[in-house]
Amino acid sequence: MVNEMTLDIQVLETSFAKIKDRAVEFSVSFYNKLFAVHPELEILFKNVELAAQEQKLMASLAIIVENLRNPEQLTLALKSLGAYHHEVGTIPEHYPFVGQALLETFAEYLGDEWTWNTEQAWLDAYNLISEIMLEGAQNPDAYLGGELTFYEWLDLYGESSPTIQKEIANETHFKYRNYKAAHESY
Ligand code: HEM
Repeated sequence: MVNEMTLDIQVLETSFAKIKDRAVEFSVSFYNKLFAVHPELEILFKNVELAAQEQKLMASLAIIVENLRNPEQLTLALKSLGAYHHEVGTIPEHYPFVGQALLETFAEYLGDEWTWNTEQAWLDAYNLISEIMLEGAQNPDAYLGGELTFYEWLDLYGESSPTIQKEIANETHFKYRNYKAAHESY
C-alpha cells in the first residue's frame, strides 16, 4: 500500500510542481530517452498515438502526486493501472527501464535542483508505485473488467485539479462525473 510515512511527499510535490509547466517537453524527452536505450519497447506502443501517450504519462504522474495523501484510494487505482499494463504486454522487467528514463528526465529538467534528497524521494516513490502496479498485474482479473479503471478510481475517490481532469478528459475521452462532489452534497 502507498505509505505516507515512507515517502517524502513534500519533496515529491515541490519537485513535480517545478516541471509541471513544461509537461509536454518533459514527456517528449522521457520517451526519447526510453526508446533510445530500449528500442525493443517501441512495439508495445505501436497502436498508441505518442502525443496522447505523453500527456497521459504526465497526467498520471500529476494525479499520483496529488493523491499521495490519499493512499488507500491511490493504491487501488495503481493496482488497476498495473493490471491494465499487464494486458497491454508490459512485464515486470520493463519497470526499471521506465524508472531510469523518468529519473534521468527529472535530472535534466531540474538541473541543480535535482539534489540527492529529491532523487531518493523519486526513487522510493517509483519503486513503491511499481511494486503496487505489479501486485495488480499478478492478479489482473481482480482489478480489471467489472472493476473501475485508474481514472474511475480517481474520479470516485481521488483529488485532482480541474486542469488535470480536463487534460485527461481530452486525451482519453474519459468524462469525470465527479462522484465525490456529488456524494458529499447529499
Ligand atoms: C510508474 C509507472 C507507470 C505509470 C504511472 C504509467 C502510466 C500509464 C497510463 C496512465 C497509461 C494510460 C492508460 C489508459 O489509457 O487507460 C499507460 C499506458 C501505457 N503504458 Fe504505462 N505507466 C507506467 C509504467 C509503464 C511501463 C514500465 C511500461 C513498459 C514499457 C509502460 C507501457 C505502457 C504502454 C505500452 C501503454 C499504452 C497501452 C495502450 O493503450 O495500448 N508503462 N501508462
